[in-house]
Formats: sequence, C-alpha cells, structure tokens
Amino acid sequence: MPKPDRLKQRAAQLEVVAAAKASQLELSVQVSGADGDRVRLIAVGDSLAGDDGLAIRMTDWRIENADSFGSRFTPSASRTQKWLVERVVGNPQRILFILFDAAGRPLGHVGVVLHDDAENGIELDAVLRGERDGPSGYMAAAIMGLHRWVVERLDADAIELKVLGSNLRAIAFYQQLGYLAVKETAVRWFARGDGESLAPCHASVATDTYVTMECRLTKSPE
Ligand SMILES: CC(C)(COP(=O)(O)OP(=O)(O)OC[C@H]1O[C@@H](n2cnc3c(N)ncnc32)[C@H](O)[C@@H]1OP(=O)(O)O)[C@@H](O)C(=O)NCCC(=O)NCCS
Repeated sequence: MPKPDRLKQRAAQLEVVAAAKASQLELSVQVSGADGDRVRLIAVGDSLAGDDGLAIRMTDWRIENADSFGSRFTPSASRTQKWLVERVVGNPQRILFILFDAAGRPLGHVGVVLHDDAENGIELDAVLRGERDGPSGYMAAAIMGLHRWVVERLDADAIELKVLGSNLRAIAFYQQLGYLAVKETAVRWFARGDGESLAPCHASVATDTYVTMECRLTKSPE
C-alpha cells in the first residue's frame, strides 16, 4: 500500500503532466558544442497529436528503428496518430515531448511515464533519435533538460528506464548520462494483438533481456 505522502505526490505529478499537455509546454535546451544551437521540447497535446506531417515522420522513425523496441507491428501514420491521441494525450500517466530544431523541424522524441511499477515511480519513455543530422549531441541535451523538468516540476529524485540488453548503443548512451543497470530480466517474443511483444520468460528460452537502469537526480542550485 503506497504511503499517503506518496499518493499526494502522485496526485500533484498528474496535475503537472495534465497542465503541460493542455498548454503544449515548451522546454528549451542548449545543445553542447560551439555553434550554440538550441532544441525545443514541446509536450504533445491535442494540436500536435492532430498534426498529420508529424505522424508521418514519427512512423518513418519507428520503421527505421524497429529493432530497438520491445514490440513489433506494422507501423502506419494512422496507427501513430491513434497512439498519440489515445495512449499519449489520453493517458494521464504519460507525457511525450517532440524535439524540434531551431528551424522547427521535428528531430525525435523523449517522454516520461508515471509508472506504478517503477521503483521510483518515474520512467523515461519513448526515447528516439529520428534525424541523424540534428545538432550534435541533441539527444543527450534533451534528456538532461527533461531530467531538470522531472526534478523541478515532478519533484522526483530518481528516474528509471527499460532498455533491450541487445541495444548496446542505447545502453552506452544512458551510461554516459549517469544511468546504472540495476536489474536484468529474460524476455522472449509473444503474440499480442496484430503483432508481437517481448515479455518475461524462463532464461533457457530467452531471445533478449530487458535491462532496468536507474539515474539519481539532483536539484541544481538556484
Ligand atoms: C539511443 C539513442 C537515443 C542515442 O542517441 P544518439 O544521439 O545517437 O547518441 P550516441 O551517443 O549514441 O550518438 C553519438 C553519435 O553517433 C551518431 N549516430 C547516431 N545514430 C547513429 C547510427 N544509427 N549510426 C551511426 N551513427 C549514429 C550521431 O550522429 C551522434 O553524434 P552527434 O550527436 O554528435 O551527431 C539513439 O541512438 C536512438 O534513438 N536509437 C534508436 C532508438 C532507441 O534505441 N531508443 C532507446 C530505447 S530504450
């Protein structure tokens, strides 16, 4: 049974997430490098969820990075849009930020889920570099910006994520950002709906693992 102060904190977090989606909150982050580029993170609300061009780009990114995720299906723009409307805007526990470069071109996305299962209740979600040629280091800058928002607005002191054990590039990337592996779970593909999902299984029949990684977050001085 969660403690009453934990329930209070969760109610406050849900309010912050709802307000951010309703206002399509914008976070602006400085990308490291000499060129002084900035990347904007905009929370998906009704307007971005209804943007046909964005759904088409996101679908291309999902197809190009199919091996990085624990579900397999046939992506399409209409499916992406349905996901944005029902599972992002319509899910009070999830927020997704689309990353835009200075010219307004979508680059990728990062998100957060207020997860009941996660040890600390906050999970980094839907991390995807869509465009290879964005400003150097923009994914790391975006996640660090998201961390600051999580600390300051969601009042959390840790965040965790799940990544496929086979996704060595992502694991190395998260390690550089301060994430440490804390658990590994054997998984294999199971049929689900019109596709397949990875789910826990006995190690002897595993085709991959889910690595749980955790990052402690600290408030930066005012
Ligand atoms: C994991 C991920 C977010 C890491 O972001 P990243 O910006 O590529 O970070 P890295 O430190 O690995 O990249 C270092 C450099 O390699 C380059 N690079 C990125 N993807 C590349 C690829 N597939 N092939 C070759 N080079 C690549 C980038 O240009 C980057 O340099 P830059 O930022 O100076 O331009 C990104 O690789 C990605 O979106 N992967 C697919 C989806 C995924 O695995 N998500 C995580 C699910 S848990």
